[in-house]
Amino acid sequence: MADRIRQAVMEDLERLTQVEALCFPPAEAAGREALKARLQTFPDCFFVAERDGLIVGFINGAATDERTIRDEMFEDASLHRPMGMYQSIFGLDVAPEWQHQGIAGQLMEHLIQDARRKGRKGLILTCKDPLIGFYERFGYRKLGLSLSVHGGAVWYDMILEFEA
Ligand SMILES: CC(C)(COP(=O)(O)OP(=O)(O)OC[C@H]1O[C@@H](n2cnc3c(N)ncnc32)[C@H](O)[C@@H]1OP(=O)(O)O)[C@@H](O)C(=O)NCCC(=O)NCCS
Repeated sequence: MADRIRQAVMEDLERLTQVEALCFPPAEAAGREALKARLQTFPDCFFVAERDGLIVGFINGAATDERTIRDEMFEDASLHRPMGMYQSIFGLDVAPEWQHQGIAGQLMEHLIQDARRKGRKGLILTCKDPLIGFYERFGYRKLGLSLSVHGGAVWYDMILEFEA
């Protein structure tokens, strides 16, 4: 488990870029500039997990009124709608050395509680087939194939809607 989950700040940028590169192949990894724009635009939707003061994982995403993520959103942080109905997840990363310890689960629970507190209707994400079951554990359900061609992979849209 992580010993602390906190909001990300600009000073975290280098370590975040490093963790992202450890977690995703180059075609899928968000680069330093994309992560910087996200930190500038929606720091309140960007959380890091720390172990002994070191960032070992993070979760982030824009808010939107749309029910699915479009590829443009990954690159264009300005599409963030602060009062958006849905919290999206652009990335959930745990550095390989710290995986399988429940840290991604902690980050996900944190973002879900945060979205609930902000009065959103739910959360949305895209994922590859092997991770569908992982997200179902948190209450997400599959909407279908995503239009995304991010990194040349096949993605599925998933949504978690809070009870009214
Ligand atoms: C996916 C990722 C975030 C998981 O991080 P993690 O901290 O290891 O995850 P947790 O320990 O909280 O949860 C893992 C557990 O979820 C469950 N789980 C994993 N995949 C599952 C699936 N398909 N169906 C059901 N349960 C699943 C298992 O119980 C697993 O336990 P195990 O690791 O001991 O096998 C991490 O592997 C990662 O960063 N991968 C690279 C980047 C990536 O693919 N991110 C997600 C797409 S944005």
